[in-house]
Amino acid sequence: MPGMDVFGAEERKEVMDVLESTCLFRYNHEHLRNGMWKSRELEEVTATYTGAKYAHAVSSGSTAVSTMLASAGIGFGDEVIVPPFTYIAPIEAVLWAGGLPVFAELDETLCLSAEGIEKAITPNTKAVLLVHMCGAAANMDEIVAVCEKHNLTLVEDCGQAMGAFYKGKSVGLFGKAGAFSMDFFKITTAGEGGLCITNSEEVYHNMEQISDHGHDHIGDNRGMEQHPILGTNFRMGELNGAVGLAQMRKVGDIRAAKLKNKAYIKSRLAEVEGITFRHMDDEEGDSGTFLNFFLPTQEKAQSAAKQLAEDGLGGFNYWFTNMYHFINQWDHLKELRSPAKMAIHHLGAPQDYKNLELPKSQEVIGRLISLGVKSTWTEEEMKSFADQMVASIKKVG
Ligand SMILES: Cc1ncc(COP(=O)(O)O)c(C=O)c1O
Repeated sequence: MPGMDVFGAEERKEVMDVLESTCLFRYNHEHLRNGMWKSRELEEVTATYTGAKYAHAVSSGSTAVSTMLASAGIGFGDEVIVPPFTYIAPIEAVLWAGGLPVFAELDETLCLSAEGIEKAITPNTKAVLLVHMCGAAANMDEIVAVCEKHNLTLVEDCGQAMGAFYKGKSVGLFGKAGAFSMDFFKITTAGEGGLCITNSEEVYHNMEQISDHGHDHIGDNRGMEQHPILGTNFRMGELNGAVGLAQMRKVGDIRAAKLKNKAYIKSRLAEVEGITFRHMDDEEGDSGTFLNFFLPTQEKAQSAAKQLAEDGLGGFNYWFTNMYHFINQWDHLKELRSPAKMAIHHLGAPQDYKNLELPKSQEVIGRLISLGVKSTWTEEEMKSFADQMVASIKKVG
């Protein structure tokens, strides 16, 4: 649940700094900015928190994924293995890059499985775009091994996973690069915003140049800068940078509060017979953003989701049918609906998207319900919520 729950004087101060300076642009204009560089500072705080050598802020999580793909050399005609359960942004990013998405199976980690990836590899596979869904990491030991074995570029969409780690390492640092979202709904928000991280100097320079028309950002005269490569405008503005900076300074505290609250709700949910939980290879690395649980069957999960809504309990997502995060709902993708031709229209889809068979993903997502965990719940609120939740789910047997 979103970082805006903890908006306070810190966010207001950072925004006022920018408004008072009048410098809403993230680069140059030293004479206006009173020494303040909010987007740059956001990048520094992010690099420190994640342990990345480099962080680069952009305008959204979606443009962060596009920036990451282009910076990692993924583009026209490349087959990219993707999951069928994700917000659709990374699939669109592959298509906009001129790439060809290839769907593979996930497992109870809610992310692509190494086995699923391996089965989807063809001679044209260039990369794996892994999505760390619902606040926690995929099984990175196995996924890194399969990518190395087949010489595939690994890039990570961490749009929902700021604050998630795997065996001590932040998500986003297992392959060439990672991309995070700071939209309104995320653990830390900039209103709209995104962050790319990498340990590669070359990939970092690609990121900062691609997201600003290829500017090399050397010197203090923007008009005279060189443009080593082509790019576009995915820049973050300073107002968003200011909010994002205040939020990223709080990420450790927000995460700790979520984890504490999640542990309580999870312990209460464990009272209900038949409930199991999302598999995490490294539970300690969880960001606490979502409590993901399974019912024994798809029918039971559907009934439980309905019952929770009928009983007026908010914050639950049943992605299988009613959320826009699962392939079953993506008719526009299956029909490749677009006003302009993309590479996939010329090259042909690498899979028959309309008749894809992904039985494991259907089975897992069919049984899944996710609860967004709030960092601001009081003990009383949590207890009352948990009592009602348990009673509601028990009604469906
Ligand atoms: C996994 C994932 N990737 C990318 C995005 C896109 O982020 P944004 O909304 O900031 O463009 C989202 C947004 O929810 C997401 O969940």
